Amino acid sequence: MMTRIIGTGSCAGESIVTNEDLAQIVETSDEWIRTRTGIRERRLTTELGTSGMAAEASMRACENAGIRPEELDLILLATSTPEYCFPNGACQIQAKIGAVNAAAFDISAACTGFVFALQTAHSFLVSGAFRTILVVGADDLSKTVDWKDRSTCVLFGDGAGAVVVKGDEKGSFHGIMKADGSRSQVLTCRARTEGNFRNGKTPELGYLHMDGQEVFKFAVKKVPECISQLLEEQQVEKEEIRYYILHQANERIIESVAKRLKEPLEKFPMNIQQYGNTSAATIPILLDEMNRAGKLNRGDQIVLSGFGGGLTWGAILMEW
Ligand code: ACO
Repeated sequence: MMTRIIGTGSCAGESIVTNEDLAQIVETSDEWIRTRTGIRERRLTTELGTSGMAAEASMRACENAGIRPEELDLILLATSTPEYCFPNGACQIQAKIGAVNAAAFDISAACTGFVFALQTAHSFLVSGAFRTILVVGADDLSKTVDWKDRSTCVLFGDGAGAVVVKGDEKGSFHGIMKADGSRSQVLTCRARTEGNFRNGKTPELGYLHMDGQEVFKFAVKKVPECISQLLEEQQVEKEEIRYYILHQANERIIESVAKRLKEPLEKFPMNIQQYGNTSAATIPILLDEMNRAGKLNRGDQIVLSGFGGGLTWGAILMEW
């Protein structure tokens, strides 16, 4: 049994914020941001939040797949920015779209979340536990960013992307998931877990912290390594790959991965210019844009690859 994406949808934050807008609030410039990251603008959510964007993307994915939300039997949401500790964000989506027959839970793996969630969905389809699964990547990182810190605030945007998947006797789907918790401090955002009346500490919600150069080095090493391992294991030649759809964190990371894989940059679609890094949402948003633009044909072999906090990273080789 293989896993097939039968519909896609996406929804970005409502408000466009350009590099020039950010130059009004921190000491930066359009030139610095563009040349270091490729980002020109990003979309921040003002009202929708994680669950609102996720629900909108999910409705669009169901419509695109030609199914009613009632036909879903599982919703998996990859996010680092749920609005509540509980209920989980997937249950919020379930309620908002009326997916009354679906179980629902969240997966936390930062920017790798969508790649992990899609592999989780695949395992459930193979096991026969579920038949029609909605996999969503959604993040509202603008609420975790310190808007006084120019080294991080210029990088992120808010958005959501969703796919509907079903099992298929034909096709192919293989994945790799990796983690290295010993390097967790490279990229962190503290949750509310510190204080209680015994230890006398006040719970503190932290901002996102990142050692940019370490993340850069980690990504350009692990992503090509992981993709090469996957292709080798499946005995698929690079020439057979139509697209490498990578997590959109930085244009230079993508360029470097292409170079290390010795593959032309044209095989690495990008939309970071318009959205910035939307964390778990980057890959499904890009997939949706490509799908709606008619760039994906049934039978195309594509590679998806994510990397991020944890540290976590992974890749999927699948047939469109
Ligand atoms: N505008 C102007 N100057 C800036 C800005 C800014 N927005 N941010 C940092 N600088 C300055 C720094 O203060 C530093 O100044 P100094 O030399 O006087 O000290 C100088 O620019 C260079 O800073 P570096 O951090 O060395 O810049 P670098 O070339 O490494 O680029 C960047 C920083 C873009 C963050 C890069 O390291 C990177 O892309 N890393 C990957 C991290 C990433 O993509 N994270 C996304 C989240 S994680 C994920 O999605 C997996």
